[in-house]
Amino acid sequence: MAFKTIKDLGDLTGKTAVVRVDINVPMQDGKVTDATRLHAVKPTVDAIAAAGGRSVLLAHFGRPKGKVVPEMSLKPVVPALADVLGRSVGFAELGDDLPADDVVVLENTRFFEGEEKNDPELAAKFAELGDVYVNDAFSAAHRAHASTAAIAKLLPAAAGETMGAELKALENALGTPVKPVVAVVGGAKVSSKLAVLENLVEQVDHLIIGGGMANTFLFAQGMDIGASLCEKDLKDTALTILSKAKDAGCKVHLPSDVVVATEFKAHAANETKGADAVSGAEMILDAGSATVADLAEVLKVSKTLVWNGPMGAFEMEPFDAATVALAKAAGELSEAGSLLTVAGGGDTVAALAHAGVKEQFTHISTAGGAFLEWMEGKELPGVAALG
Ligand code: 3PG
Repeated sequence: MAFKTIKDLGDLTGKTAVVRVDINVPMQDGKVTDATRLHAVKPTVDAIAAAGGRSVLLAHFGRPKGKVVPEMSLKPVVPALADVLGRSVGFAELGDDLPADDVVVLENTRFFEGEEKNDPELAAKFAELGDVYVNDAFSAAHRAHASTAAIAKLLPAAAGETMGAELKALENALGTPVKPVVAVVGGAKVSSKLAVLENLVEQVDHLIIGGGMANTFLFAQGMDIGASLCEKDLKDTALTILSKAKDAGCKVHLPSDVVVATEFKAHAANETKGADAVSGAEMILDAGSATVADLAEVLKVSKTLVWNGPMGAFEMEPFDAATVALAKAAGELSEAGSLLTVAGGGDTVAALAHAGVKEQFTHISTAGGAFLEWMEGKELPGVAALG
């Protein structure tokens, strides 16, 4: 989709940009524990400053559902943001006179009922804060809210630097990708990623299914999966997905060997066996090394990779092995320039960081839910509003 950038907004001297950002960061005891999303704000604030303007930031924090919840105030995020931005950052509530800092953070947009209702009146109040609107919150773009959607129609609107980079990377990954395209979809449950799988079988050449969700597919194909996590009621759904994939020419890869244990805990006694040899109290907790070797070959013949979800119970050693090995294989190909690699989703980012390959990937999205909805092929309201 074509979208305007900050440059297209022209000279911003003396102007204020109302910027929707996602600073919904994890916090503990009043301190930010992961500043990734704060760093994502910097390129946009810098670009606006370089064009002569200043930024008033709109953002949500948690899910206060239209009520003022003091524990969900954005005020405690301000010092950490000022550190990351290297600028003076003030704080205001809607209706206050704005302080004269380089950057002002407005209190949690979700303290207002109108935010989640995409209320035009609330959007107009937000719009009155500035002269132009910039949306830099891809990770909140799946929400049609006053600060992400309605406001974009009230001011000249553009995508911020982080949002723009994200949209370009995603376009390269699934919009107009270099083929063959391979997708890795892992995680515990098929039910949480049904729409993703249904969309991907139509889009990609290879679909690698990993994690607990692979068990449901193995079970649907008539295999004994012992005591493994499995959504047995989704047997027919899994078979339909496999048949759709076949019709669309998408090759689905399920584990041929698996790592099993009878206890769900780190360092539990384990064994690698054929996926068709599991029984009794055994739980499949990871893909086996033969599977990983086969999948590494699939990556080698592919040009584009989209990844969401781990291949096994990666948070417990040694059941992180398949995720780490496949991530490393992808990272090396990415670094060598033969594979464009795009990944997203909370667990995925943690898994890739654990594998030490974050820097090697072409693009890692800061989004969770929005990344999944994009993988489902949905139009995101916050992106559509910029069109
Ligand atoms: C996120 O953390 O994924 C975004 O900030 C969106 O939050 P939400 O799921 O509460 O809309």
